[in-house]
Amino acid sequence: EKGGYDHFMLKEIYEQPRAILDTFRGRMLANEGIIRMAGVDDNIEKFVNANRILIVACGTSWHAGLVAEYVFENLTRIPVEVEYASEFRYRNPIITENDVVIAISQSGETADTMAAIKLAKSKGAFVFGVCNVVGSSISRETDAGAYTHAGPEIGVASTKAFTTQITVLTLIALKLAQKKGTISKSEFHQYLSEMDAIPAKVEKTLESANHVKTIADIYKDATNFLYLGRGYNFPVALEGALKLKEISYIHAEGYPAAEMKHGPIALIDEQMPVVVIATRKGHYEKVVSNIQEIKSRKGKIIAVVMQGDKSIKKIADYVIEIPETLELLTPLLTTIPLQLLSYYIAVMRDCNVDQPRNLAKSVTVE
Ligand code: M6R
Repeated sequence: EKGGYDHFMLKEIYEQPRAILDTFRGRMLANEGIIRMAGVDDNIEKFVNANRILIVACGTSWHAGLVAEYVFENLTRIPVEVEYASEFRYRNPIITENDVVIAISQSGETADTMAAIKLAKSKGAFVFGVCNVVGSSISRETDAGAYTHAGPEIGVASTKAFTTQITVLTLIALKLAQKKGTISKSEFHQYLSEMDAIPAKVEKTLESANHVKTIADIYKDATNFLYLGRGYNFPVALEGALKLKEISYIHAEGYPAAEMKHGPIALIDEQMPVVVIATRKGHYEKVVSNIQEIKSRKGKIIAVVMQGDKSIKKIADYVIEIPETLELLTPLLTTIPLQLLSYYIAVMRDCNVDQPRNLAKSVTVE
């Protein structure tokens, strides 16, 4: 059942090229320049006329929502807010009939997310679900939706659900951008053909597994980790830190790279590994200077860079390369080595990777 892998988590990490492909297969016709998704097409007016999009979710799904915030705002120019379902639910939020609420949930059973959906519906908002489990409670409660076709996710630590959530949300954003005319035809085509190439690039990224394992061996005994990223990759930093906490029980925090100097830099010493997502696109120079600040305080740098990177190679202790792609799509690649890093560290620390202590696959209490 684990298909020859030691753990479900590893199997699910390796399933990502296929899972992402399954998520856009039949929905995105890259050559023809078409995206069709019944749940979106049937409600297209609600989406394009939305005053704002509110995203509600928990945990890893909330991180996917944060990536989507950057993607939607950039492509569609619709204002987006991302809320923890549990906070949204209990603070008398402002919701109107002109809001579109997107609820993201792998299991489709998360109680906090369900409660947020019911509240949004009671205020007259249109609620769209992005779920993985077909026929789940959330997929039934929402007005419309789109499934991530990731296949069953057994490991408690969410992996392929995250990348397929980002895939679905990016398709929706692209569809709306095309409809609204907020991106040019040629940009639209470029995004589609780059998305088409993502499964193969995820496959390529997975080839760095052995190298990541070596890095894991070096830092497995650390007691703290920092994860830094900017823009589209800031939520990936949060997700990388969550993954490490969950399965290896090492304390980790994710930060937007530039926030370092506003506090967390005080934590840096020779014991502190810092994972920096530093793709050549998007604030690259700034991230390079963030890395220099860490180096000069003797922090250890593990950098996720784009193939062919030269400057960061010179200053980082270790680099992990991902193939070149458009900045907006980089989270689909940068996530992979962070999943592998936490996986290998957890295995080396003898942790129960698939069923970490105190955690359940779906959290059905509020
Ligand atoms: O099933 P959901 O996506 O609604 O679950 C939300 C969180 O409970 C979930 O992502 C949790 O944070 C995972 N254990 C993360 O790996």
